[in-house]
Amino acid sequence: MNSRIMGVGGYLPEKIVTNDDLSKTIDTSHEWIFSRTGIAERHIAAANQYASDLGYMAALDALKKASISPDEIDMIVVATSSPDRIFPSTAVKIQTMLGAKNCPSFDVQAACSGFIYALSLADQFIKSGQGKTALVIGAEVLSRITDWGDRSNCILFGDGAGAVVLKADNDSNKGIIGTELFSDGSHYDLLYLSKHVTGSEPAGFITMQGQGVMRVAVKCITKAVEAVFEKHNIDVNDIDWMVPHQANIRIMDAVAKKIKFPEEKIYKTIQYHANTSAASVPLALNAGIEDGSIKENDLLLFFAMGGGFTWGASVTRL
Ligand code: ACO
Repeated sequence: MNSRIMGVGGYLPEKIVTNDDLSKTIDTSHEWIFSRTGIAERHIAAANQYASDLGYMAALDALKKASISPDEIDMIVVATSSPDRIFPSTAVKIQTMLGAKNCPSFDVQAACSGFIYALSLADQFIKSGQGKTALVIGAEVLSRITDWGDRSNCILFGDGAGAVVLKADNDSNKGIIGTELFSDGSHYDLLYLSKHVTGSEPAGFITMQGQGVMRVAVKCITKAVEAVFEKHNIDVNDIDWMVPHQANIRIMDAVAKKIKFPEEKIYKTIQYHANTSAASVPLALNAGIEDGSIKENDLLLFFAMGGGFTWGASVTRL
């Protein structure tokens, strides 16, 4: 039994903040941000929107496209680093909003790699025969944990959610071929939320050593991609689209260069979405399908890297 992506959805909050908008409140410019990151604008959630609200909208979109009703869902996994609350999970909130009654629901926290981790879990859940249908969501309101006075960091992040519906399928030529996951806690201090959970303080803000992240990211992601290719006998020339975590255009381009992958086959949304952490891969996948670039039967390479560090790569035949 294979697990196949049957529907992909996305949701972006209405409010758009451009680089020029940011330059009115911090000492920066569109040229500085765009040339270093590829980001031109980002969506920001309204004050009354939580990760569950964004994730719910993306889930509705994915379920509709997959023609799946909420009572057919056997598992809901939400990848997020900006949950509504530390507990209960954002997944159970979305479960209730959808009216999905008969399934386990839980969150996965692997920072920006969360979606790849969640996808792998859902894939194994289906391949092991434990269930037939899984809803995998990446949802973030990073604007709530961003220090808008810190110009090195705040320019990078945005809010949004993406979702995929995975379903058991007998067609062995389609579906998730394989995923390789990694972590290395020795990089804990390169990217983290500034406060511990003490009971008396708010969560704090995203804190990052940008150049350190960049150096480790390219090396680790390249190894993950090579690992998934080797394990599943995949030639880089067979990949139709790279759909990477949209952290920084320079990371994507550097990985592509290392694995000798053509730049024009990298699906990029970073210009319009910025870095939406666990939401960025499914949001990019949704955008690629919606504009007709990514089509059924395409062989796709997903990868991501995030705080921890965590990272992973996955290959799927759509
Ligand atoms: N506007 C203008 N100047 C700025 C800004 C800004 N927004 N931010 C920093 N600067 C200044 C700094 O103060 C510094 O000035 P100085 O030389 O007078 O001290 C100068 O620009 C250079 O700063 P650096 O931090 O060295 O800039 P760098 O070229 O490394 O770019 C950036 C910073 C964009 C964060 C880069 O390191 C980067 O993209 N790193 C990757 C991190 C990443 O992608 N993280 C995403 C989250 S992790 C993940 O998803 C994998």
